[in-house]
Amino acid sequence: MTDVLLEYGVRAIVHCAGRTLVGESMRDPGAYFDANVGGSLSLLNAAVKANVRYLVFSSSAGVYGHPDQIPIPEHVRPDPQNPYGESKLLVERMIRWFAEVHGLRAVSLRYFNAAGADPDGEVGECHDPETHLIPSILNALLDDRPVSVFGCDYPTPDGTAIRDYVHVSDLATAHVRALQYLDDDEAAAFSIFNLGSGRGFSVTEVIAEVEQVTGRSLKRVDRPRRPGDPPILVADITQAVESLGWKPTMDLREIIRTAWTWHQKVRSGPFPRVRGERPRPDRVRAARRPSGRLRPSRPRRPSEHAGAVAASTSPLTTPPHRRHAPATPAPAAAQAAPAAPRPRWPAAWPRWAG
Ligand SMILES: NC(=O)c1ccc[n+]([C@@H]2O[C@H](COP(=O)([O-])OP(=O)(O)OC[C@H]3O[C@@H](n4cnc5c(N)ncnc54)[C@H](O)[C@@H]3O)[C@@H](O)[C@H]2O)c1
Repeated sequence: MTDVLLEYGVRAIVHCAGRTLVGESMRDPGAYFDANVGGSLSLLNAAVKANVRYLVFSSSAGVYGHPDQIPIPEHVRPDPQNPYGESKLLVERMIRWFAEVHGLRAVSLRYFNAAGADPDGEVGECHDPETHLIPSILNALLDDRPVSVFGCDYPTPDGTAIRDYVHVSDLATAHVRALQYLDDDEAAAFSIFNLGSGRGFSVTEVIAEVEQVTGRSLKRVDRPRRPGDPPILVADITQAVESLGWKPTMDLREIIRTAWTWHQKVRSGPFPRVRGERPRPDRVRAARRPSGRLRPSRPRRPSEHAGAVAASTSPLTTPPHRRHAPATPAPAAAQAAPAAPRPRWPAAWPRWAG
């Protein structure tokens, strides 16, 4: 890993990898400590050897357990109730020491419930098994089967668990803000921020909102609580708003609307990816060009090609020897073609991004 970081001249890492299923972690804690804690330790050691300066870590509201204080500020004493949450907390503690001893600058982002799909409908949420509420409800709707509601006797107004949903695009923006924050010499060496919307919705309210957005009614089956599920998790996002200058822009309706668009599109495409289902050969054939390659689901805009150029020549990921134009002249046809638009960085991109 050190060699890869050195070869590509990596200066910042956004560390999202990990095992993520609470229930699975209760059955096989070793796998969670191995992948999440052991894997992160390997990454941290390599980052120090390769002089990586910044790290942004995907942590979780799972570190809080069953907090008394709602909304939950970052300073609440963490008390994870499952190995998944514990593994996130252990990684945060390792990062704090790496920041103190090795001068790594780091931010841990404690996500609440990430949800929604990108507004263009290109990327969405699909797990196998699906344990997240919004995709579970949408899958139930599309399969015409009832949705399971785990726990109807919580001490909440309608008896179902309350969670805080934040759109994935807003989460993505928060990561850019975290990198910008780290690039500021005034920033603390290690900081923790909650990322949520600051508003809670019960399972019953989410189901009602799905019915509103889709115009369809859902059947539900009430089931017992799942072990380790706290009644209410809602973020206090004051710190992220004040220090990162970040605020969520999409509400629950928009989260469901984008997720619904994506789910419908996936179901009508060649790779429906419903649990256990194989790609449908007729749709795969229909999506292939004569060359045998898959057609893109829609024509690319020039700006997306520019994005591809930006991604492949980013100073964050490209080794120095590959950052310049190749010495060999381009073929005549390519020379005659109009120059590709320059990749556009966000106006306030951090200094290290060039
Ligand atoms: N989705 C949420 O609501 C949510 C909430 C809190 C925190 N998070 C955290 O955000 C991150 C991304 O979550 P997600 O929902 O996209 O989950 P995901 O399961 O879709 O993504 C996790 C990725 O990590 C990879 N991975 C697992 N173990 C690995 C290993 N040892 N080495 C390399 N890669 C490995 C997996 O293959 C997967 O691609 C995770 O760290 C998760 O704990 C997510």
